[in-house]
Amino acid sequence: MINLCRFIPLFFCIVSVGCVSATPSPAPVESRSIEASAPEETVTIGGTTYPVPEAWIGQKLDAPPLKTPPLVQIPQALTKDQSNIYILREARDALVLMADAAQKDGVSLRVDSGYRSLWYQRKIFINLMKKGRSFEDLVRYVAPPGYSEHMLGTVVDFSPGNWRFAKTPAYAWLRKHGGEYGFSESYPKNNRRHPWESWHWRYRNPAGSGTMKQ
Ligand code: DAL
Ligand code: ZN
Repeated sequence: MINLCRFIPLFFCIVSVGCVSATPSPAPVESRSIEASAPEETVTIGGTTYPVPEAWIGQKLDAPPLKTPPLVQIPQALTKDQSNIYILREARDALVLMADAAQKDGVSLRVDSGYRSLWYQRKIFINLMKKGRSFEDLVRYVAPPGYSEHMLGTVVDFSPGNWRFAKTPAYAWLRKHGGEYGFSESYPKNNRRHPWESWHWRYRNPAGSGTMKQ
């Protein structure tokens, strides 16, 4: 549901400004309230503009669109249903090493999602909205277009990309060893920003010596 409270202060500012024009005395308080009301962040999906929810305000990513190269394909043996999934080379190399080590411990890691362009993130919304889901419902779980870490090319979702992943040996293994390969959970349990996404892991160069800008 759209948070109407976000609009209410703005409404009152406008009303106040209307009153000020009929009042001879200066109105410093009113001017301050206008400055304090930050401009809305919005996203446009399918021709409709939506306010960005509070949790995502200020989190818009300045990520240029990526192509191949620098994106490289994750080996299909490591992707769910052998699908074609791309991420940046340094992240891919770390992922391959990590998946190898996991396999030696008897644990299979399968990737469900990698790089997603702004266009693709918007498409996710469009497709699900066509099935009757609302923006307000979806945005509780899916980052608004322009705000998803998947745009960075350093993020993977492991399969299954849902709450069940937290119960898998793969998750337990990643919790123990992911950091050794530069991977960490972006939305861990009990974080204050976003619901727990045990399947969503971001690569950051552990030594900081790579070419990757983050
Ligand atoms: N589900 C995460 C937040 C994303 O869409 O990037
Ligand atoms: Zn994800």
